[in-house]
Amino acid sequence: MSETKISGNGEVLLKGPTLWVDGARFVVLGGELHNSSSSTPQAIVAAFDRVRSLGANTVLAPVAWDLLEPAENQFDLSLVDAMLTAARERELRLILLWFGSWKNGMSSYAPAWVKRDLDRFPRAQTRESGRIEHLSPFAVESRDADASAFSVLLGHLREVDQQRTVLMVQVENEVGLLGDSRDRSALAEKAFDGAVPETVIEAIATAPQLPVHQRWLAEGSRREGTWRTVLGESPEADEAFMAYAYASYIEKVAAAGRESYDLPLYVNAWLDVPITLDLPGTEGSSAPETQNDASGEPDVAVAAGESPGKYPSGGPLPRVAPIWRAAAPSIDFLAPDIYFGDFDKICADYNDATGRLLIPEMRRSAVGVSQMFAAVGTYGALGVAPFGIDSLTEDHPDWATLADGYRLLAAAADRIASAKPAGLIAGVRIDEKNPSVQMSMGSYALTAQTRTYGVAAPKYPAYGIVVQEDEDQLVIMGRGFTATFAHAEGAKVGILSVDELDFDGKKWTVTRRLNGDETGSGSAVYLLSLGATSPAFFPIPFVTSHTGAVRVRLYTYQ
Ligand code: DGJ
Repeated sequence: MSETKISGNGEVLLKGPTLWVDGARFVVLGGELHNSSSSTPQAIVAAFDRVRSLGANTVLAPVAWDLLEPAENQFDLSLVDAMLTAARERELRLILLWFGSWKNGMSSYAPAWVKRDLDRFPRAQTRESGRIEHLSPFAVESRDADASAFSVLLGHLREVDQQRTVLMVQVENEVGLLGDSRDRSALAEKAFDGAVPETVIEAIATAPQLPVHQRWLAEGSRREGTWRTVLGESPEADEAFMAYAYASYIEKVAAAGRESYDLPLYVNAWLDVPITLDLPGTEGSSAPETQNDASGEPDVAVAAGESPGKYPSGGPLPRVAPIWRAAAPSIDFLAPDIYFGDFDKICADYNDATGRLLIPEMRRSAVGVSQMFAAVGTYGALGVAPFGIDSLTEDHPDWATLADGYRLLAAAADRIASAKPAGLIAGVRIDEKNPSVQMSMGSYALTAQTRTYGVAAPKYPAYGIVVQEDEDQLVIMGRGFTATFAHAEGAKVGILSVDELDFDGKKWTVTRRLNGDETGSGSAVYLLSLGATSPAFFPIPFVTSHTGAVRVRLYTYQ
């Protein structure tokens, strides 16, 4: 069987929805570091060690503008080099996150020489707070300074990264304006009274699904005019205006970088969804605009909700994606950071928006792991990356779940890379609300549900990936569910064999032939949950250890 190559000298290519590395389909099984974990060489080593021990294949790590260019035109690339070395020593790939002009709606990563010079690098203003620590996206000097630093960063990578350790670069981080729906600085006001570019009108006119399209219709479907006359005074108009401003600024930054080195580039988004917390007593309810810690005390102020300014206005969301696409052609795709909201809808919307899905930030818990399987299996994601995995310790319950998730996803990625062009790939994600899911695999229908052995208590979430290797042969990887099979045309389906498999990252082995009790007497495939135990009330013991991967061969009879 083919090997999953982690390092090499080949190419990195984005083709359609897929990332190709060294000529093979590559699924980013990433982990994003905490914001300060790449700020010194020793922090880098410690964080990269954790990522390696957990079994991810890619590190997503920040490059901070203030550390890269502490004085104007004086660059310190030593942290970038330290990351390249640390990644290569651990056979990891890298996705660099350019924390330049903006990081989470603020400009805290701008160097001191930028922060101090308010005339040359003007700030955005909001109605409530006046000037804020946020570079105005209408400022040309900030844009050019950011673009020049970004181009030095990418130029350096071209020189020192012939082996393509760096797969792609994220440009800025969760851009957008917080605290108001649009920038009220003098520069911004002037732009708002200027003409809406034709490309923006075209993007809005041809996308009826956008909220701002309704505004455009309501204002008379004008083909020219100022922002005020074409879109009216509305939060949607403000959001479209800011989206165009950030996208145009970022286009200059991205294009300057690409001119130095043509790497895939993307932008990530803080989503327009309410924050819901699974705290005792609050499950499923909308939280106020603060995030609580486990004690229930509000601790971190975070914006939430569904109006621009509560979430960063103008950020790369599906609701303004056509404007981003029109104004920032050097950006390959828009990516969602998914902590909250309707996971399936968000994945589908981003796939629709730019034809690709990478989730650069997501939960690192069991729920996050189940979403990683769904992203890769159901939505064909080119990658997934739980956030903050470098602060997980081995004694934390999520460590084993995440490490097992990476191991099984590496196995799934290997099977996906080898799958026949027409071979089907499906994701399984089961929770309390949906304890059973069905999928069609060619002429077979597979049902996945949580009642393993009929008597074991279900453990949620359950998750997995199914890859069709041949018409009658499936590899199923995952945890916590039982798979049974039916035939689309009503024939009876039997199991010829079930092999339990193990994948060590390079080669596959058959660890057991499963039959008898381990397959419900040939009726099902059991993928036990991690840490499953034989139920105490039942007098007959069951085998509860399992690699989490099987190959099943099916047949039909009448
Ligand atoms: C989203 C940001 O993009 C990350 O950099 C990090 O700050 C997380 N939120 C956690 O707060």
